[in-house]
Amino acid sequence: MIRAVRVTGSAAALLAAACLSMLGAGSRNAGAQTRAPNAAESAAPAGVDNAQRAWQHWTLNCQGCHRPDGTGSAGTTPSLAGTVGRFLSVPGGREYLGRVPGVATSPLSNADLAELMNWMLWRFDKEHLPANFQPFTAAELGQLRSAPLRLEASQMRADLLKKADESATP
Ligand code: HEC
Repeated sequence: MIRAVRVTGSAAALLAAACLSMLGAGSRNAGAQTRAPNAAESAAPAGVDNAQRAWQHWTLNCQGCHRPDGTGSAGTTPSLAGTVGRFLSVPGGREYLGRVPGVATSPLSNADLAELMNWMLWRFDKEHLPANFQPFTAAELGQLRSAPLRLEASQMRADLLKKADESATP
C-alpha cells in the first residue's frame, strides 16, 4: 500500500510539473497521458473521472490533517483508513460524510468534491464499501455541504460509529 502511494505520488508530481509548464492549461489531457502506467488509477471506481486529479485535491486540501495514507493525526484527526466506509452502512452516515466540516467547507467545487469523496472511499476503505454503493454526485454534495456540521460533528461521529459497531456481525 505504501508503495502504491509512492507510485501515485511521483506520477502526480510529474503531472503537476507538466501542468505548471503548460501554465495550467489542458490538465485533463495531461492526466490522460499519465494514466496508462498507473495500475491503481485504471481500477478507479464509478464516480471518479480522473483519479490523478482526485489525489491532487486530496494532497492539497485534506492530507495536512488526514495524512497521505488517511491514517489521521493522533489526538486531532481520526483515521479514514479502514473506517470511513463504515459510515455508509448506518442511517445518516452518508449525510455525515458530506457535512463534516473538512469536507463541507473545502474550497473545492461540488463536482471535484464528489469525485474526491468517491476516490477517498475507494482508496482508503474499499473493504467497507457497500456492494450497492452509489457514488456521490455534485448535486448531492452541493446539498449536503450547504448545511455544514460544526461542533456537533464529533458527537455525531461517535454515535454513528457506535451504530455501525452494533450492526456489524458479532
Ligand atoms: C483541519 C483539519 C482537517 C482537514 C483540512 C480536513 N479534515 Fe476531514 N476531518 C477532520 C476531523 C477532525 C474529522 C473528525 C470529525 C470532526 O470533528 O470534524 C474529520 C472527518 C472527516 C470525515 C468523516 C469521517 C470520520 O471518520 O469522521 C471525512 C469523510 C473527511 N474528514 C474527509 C476530508 C476531506 C475529503 C478533506 C479535504 C477536502 C478533509 N477531510 C479535510 C479534520 C480535517
